[in-house]
Amino acid sequence: MANKTHTHAQWSSRTAFVLAATGSAVGLGNIWKFPYMVGESGGAVFVLVYLCCIALIGLPILVSEWLVGRRGQSNPINSMLKVSRDEGRSPAWALVGLAGVLGSFLILSFYSVVGGWSLNYTWGSATGGVGESAGVALGDYFGALLEQPWTLFGWHTLFMIVTFAIVACGVKGGLERAAKWLMPLLIVALVVLIGYGTTTTGFGQAADFMFSPDWSKLNGSVVLAALGHAFFTLSLGMGIMMAYGSYLGQDVDLIKTARTVVILDTVIALAAGMAIFPVVFANGQDAGSGPGLIFATLPVAFADMPAGMLFGTLFFALLTIAALTSAISLLEPVTEFLEERTPLPRIGAALVAALAAWALGIAALLSFNLWSGFTPFGLGVFDLLDTLTAKFMLPLTGLGAIVFVGWFVKSEGVNQELALGGTGEMIWRIVSRFVAPIGVIVVFVSSL
Ligand code: TRP
Repeated sequence: MANKTHTHAQWSSRTAFVLAATGSAVGLGNIWKFPYMVGESGGAVFVLVYLCCIALIGLPILVSEWLVGRRGQSNPINSMLKVSRDEGRSPAWALVGLAGVLGSFLILSFYSVVGGWSLNYTWGSATGGVGESAGVALGDYFGALLEQPWTLFGWHTLFMIVTFAIVACGVKGGLERAAKWLMPLLIVALVVLIGYGTTTTGFGQAADFMFSPDWSKLNGSVVLAALGHAFFTLSLGMGIMMAYGSYLGQDVDLIKTARTVVILDTVIALAAGMAIFPVVFANGQDAGSGPGLIFATLPVAFADMPAGMLFGTLFFALLTIAALTSAISLLEPVTEFLEERTPLPRIGAALVAALAAWALGIAALLSFNLWSGFTPFGLGVFDLLDTLTAKFMLPLTGLGAIVFVGWFVKSEGVNQELALGGTGEMIWRIVSRFVAPIGVIVVFVSSL
């Protein structure tokens, strides 16, 4: 540990770190995925289980990933290797890091398809196409979009090129500085949408739907979906937060910082829900319509608002930027891995990683049209990638990280990192050894 500051770059400040971590966490998961999952999984029951998962499982795992990264001072695989060696444990723990590299690649492939939708909507809002069709027939624009493989292909490709360019040229710093201004704008846009929602007839029903639970809807698959989404939305289980933690100075308080990131991420997701459901109910749309929910719903609100075209364009542009700051964090682990394990230079590594994810993304977008009949395990490629990562890989690798920190890193090491004492230490130990790991296992086993 003695040479840490000499060998490895560090974040310029705690703020820079919080921004990068929040940039990774806040993305399509909050604004696109969270509302449609709430809609599909019975509303408030899902929201409440999700909040418990975030607090009792997500937060401690976020802290654990940063902790391993900061002690390991390297990419996720090497960090796990180094810390397990230091602690006299099996090097097989590095498999947790390896699973992360594979998983982030799988997520990026379908994430880019949705990023492409968001880009298409930015363009379509600016040129009026989205608004026109929203006035005529609800949801038609989105339905028509899914039926055009070449259009989907074009926007998916564009989104991946931009992601690649940012990672390859290392203009990340610029993007993160931009995000510092744009993220608050996104929150303002959500608040305006919520304000619009209060003027519709659907607002009360939306609040009920999101916050007053109908317990009869609780079942294993809802709980697993909520757990998986807690991992997805906090960017956990893929070693990304571990990588970010490796650039972290010793002076940063991991628990406090994790709390900030988690609160921001959760507030944005809840706000997205409250922005969307009033419009859904006021227009008699189906809350459980799946991945197209925000894309079919919001244009209706924009079409109805004064200056809605401008506002709609702005909203989807901000959503695209939030998606990009997450996408670059997904491309990073694969790029870093290829760069360190193959003779490829950084640009080459980023290119190979982006090309591979792009190719797999094509299979995902074809599952909405030409390949809609191809359903291994009863799911199309898009849903399969989503299910495999969010419901299986993220919880399992996250479990690996917390079990490792809870049971296999000596308590002196943990105390040194977390600077806890007395009650705090006891709570941490109970949560990291029992509550979080048992939580993941119980959810997992009961849903099978
Ligand atoms: N958290 C991001 C979102 O909510 C997506 C994401 C970025 C992610 N990096 C990740 C998900 C790593 C899982 C693992 O949109």
